Amino acid sequence: MSFSTIPLTGSKPEQYAQLAEQAEALLSGEHDRIANAANLSALVFNALPDLNWVGFYFYDGTELVVGPFQGLPACVRIPLDKGVCGAAARTRQTQRVEDVHAFPGHIACDAASRSEVVVPLVRDGQLLGVFDLDSPVPARFDVDDQAGLEKIADVFLRSLG
Ligand code: SME
Repeated sequence: MSFSTIPLTGSKPEQYAQLAEQAEALLSGEHDRIANAANLSALVFNALPDLNWVGFYFYDGTELVVGPFQGLPACVRIPLDKGVCGAAARTRQTQRVEDVHAFPGHIACDAASRSEVVVPLVRDGQLLGVFDLDSPVPARFDVDDQAGLEKIADVFLRSLG
């Protein structure tokens, strides 16, 4: 199989709608969590500008454990009371951080990261993990990015069957 990404065009919401369509196509027919997390990380990392890390942490019942990602090697385990990822997992609310240096307890896996968005992954009321994106650009993510990335995370959750 070869998968070519079509460049995203139009307004930011339109671009995210196109990206969500590409994600649906990429994950369609496959339910494996690792396979779909790996492919989705690669899709998003290559489709969106100004990112230095895109990937997944999965909840093992105690803490978050790194899953498939694109970017520099990352911290393996994150307790739920630590970092932006822990906050997203604990509160089950998306965390959008314009300046990671100002976020108490931010975990700097890649020193280049300046802003971050973390979407919690909740399935049938159970915490599955988080979808995490980092940018070297301060305030890289706005409300349109948040809404678009929440939709992408939903494509992932629905792909699990
Ligand atoms: N910065 C995150 C840790 C994960 S890395 O960004 C890949 C945090 O504070 O939770």
